[in-house]
Amino acid sequence: MRVLSGIQPSGQLHIGNYFGMMQPMISNMAEHELYAFIVDLHALTSVHDAQRLATGTLEAAVDFMALGLEPERCIFWVQSDVPEVTELTWVLSTLTPMGLLERCHSYKDKIAKGIASSHGLFAYPVLMAADILLYQAQRVPVGKDQKQHLEVARDIAIKFNSLFGDTFVLPEPVIDADLAVVPGLDGQKMSKSYGNTIPIFTGEKELKKRVMAIVTDSTPVDEPKDPDRCNLYNIFKLFAPADRLKEVRDLYLNGGAMYGKIKLELLELLWEYFRPARQRREQLLADPGQVRDILRQGAEKARAKAAPTLEEVRRRVGLRY
Ligand code: TYM
Repeated sequence: MRVLSGIQPSGQLHIGNYFGMMQPMISNMAEHELYAFIVDLHALTSVHDAQRLATGTLEAAVDFMALGLEPERCIFWVQSDVPEVTELTWVLSTLTPMGLLERCHSYKDKIAKGIASSHGLFAYPVLMAADILLYQAQRVPVGKDQKQHLEVARDIAIKFNSLFGDTFVLPEPVIDADLAVVPGLDGQKMSKSYGNTIPIFTGEKELKKRVMAIVTDSTPVDEPKDPDRCNLYNIFKLFAPADRLKEVRDLYLNGGAMYGKIKLELLELLWEYFRPARQRREQLLADPGQVRDILRQGAEKARAKAAPTLEEVRRRVGLRY
């Protein structure tokens, strides 16, 4: 099975990114043919600062490896190092109906949050479709917010295949119901652009500030509360061992759950959970040249996979004379 997914280097990676995409990708490494990449061309739709984009790209790659992605067991690269993807994007964009893109929530959400509208932001899902179709990916692990983009990719593939003959594999999203939407500090979806994240790699002091800022209700301690509707519980359950989770769940149901105490316990769990990754990250950051080499080698492998698909596309649409 060919499994592929990408992540934007547009800010500090957070636990929503981790549970929605990075961890499922890492756990697929053993069994499947894995394609993982840092989508700097996508990030360019919101980051217009060369230094920030370049540093963010390298750091996102470091973070992914620190969390357990092993580049020798997958294909791992930076999107813009494979320029074939932009050519495929153009070809696909000529057969993507405007209405399909106009319906995309993600575009409307980003505009509502103050990201400047641009043709690139509007066409974002076409570039994402090219990312997926270029490598003939069968499965794409993502969070729920990307589901619609996967549907767009499938629609575009179906349209191409029906116009020009069977060329593209139809990709399937892989969305774990329990991890589809990791809530942020305020209970909305955790998102860089809502400023409600728990970053994976941040100092202990900042982490404490974020955890303490998790919004809870004002139900008195002794009264029963519904754990499944509590934002703090929904984050806590991602990190707590099963037996401890059961105890805390019982406290919610029977009364006695103290939010302050649970927050401190969560802080401890978070800090320990990512400790090994933090150490690996320090080592990787100490040798950025080595990370660049790894990404360059990954890009070569990715290009070798991309080239035959693009060649077939050119031939099928008539860009060969
Ligand atoms: P990005 O960088 O916004 O997010 C990376 C991944 O993290 C998931 N995610 C979440 N999952 C659960 N709960 C959350 N709160 C949460 N926040 C983020 C996202 O769903 C995503 O899977 N367009 C993609 C990047 C992309 C891509 C691709 C993905 C570009 N090309 C091809 C797959 C295949 C994105 O914006 O990811």
